[in-house]
Amino acid sequence: MKKILFVCLGNICRSPMAEALFRQRITETGQKDQFQVDSAGTSDWEEGNPPHPQTRLTLQNHNVSTANLISRPVTTDDFYKFDVIIGMDHKNVQDLEELRPKDSTAKIYLFMSVSPIHSNADVPDPWYTHKFEAAYQQIAAGIDEWVTFLTAHNE
Ligand code: 4NP
Repeated sequence: MKKILFVCLGNICRSPMAEALFRQRITETGQKDQFQVDSAGTSDWEEGNPPHPQTRLTLQNHNVSTANLISRPVTTDDFYKFDVIIGMDHKNVQDLEELRPKDSTAKIYLFMSVSPIHSNADVPDPWYTHKFEAAYQQIAAGIDEWVTFLTAHNE
């Protein structure tokens, strides 16, 4: 069982989209039992809140379930509990590196690092850009790369 945590700033836009899409994809491919997936924020600003209304609308438009998505901050335990922690932009990754206890074993990645053509890109924050559909499309493409990568590599 591989344990995967997606992380953004508020945990109401990008990382819940990634969590929901990853869960849907592994269900479709029959790999549900091989993964545990969750998401969190580097801040606690939205703690306890459901995804942003536009995040919910965008996921619903694409028939992706928004069930059980409640914002929570990253905890110290996460760095021991999860095998792979994926930040949606460079700032998320930098914050995760700073939060990570020195003896923790989780591997930290940039979400777009698995992209064959845009491996150093951020997922722009729709909280600021208001481009929820663009974020969805970028994340949906990336999720397929992640399922392939995590299936092939023993992370
Ligand atoms: P997210 O977007 O990191 O993709 O969830 C944000 C959500 C909320 C805030 C910032 C970014 N905020 O400032 O509350």
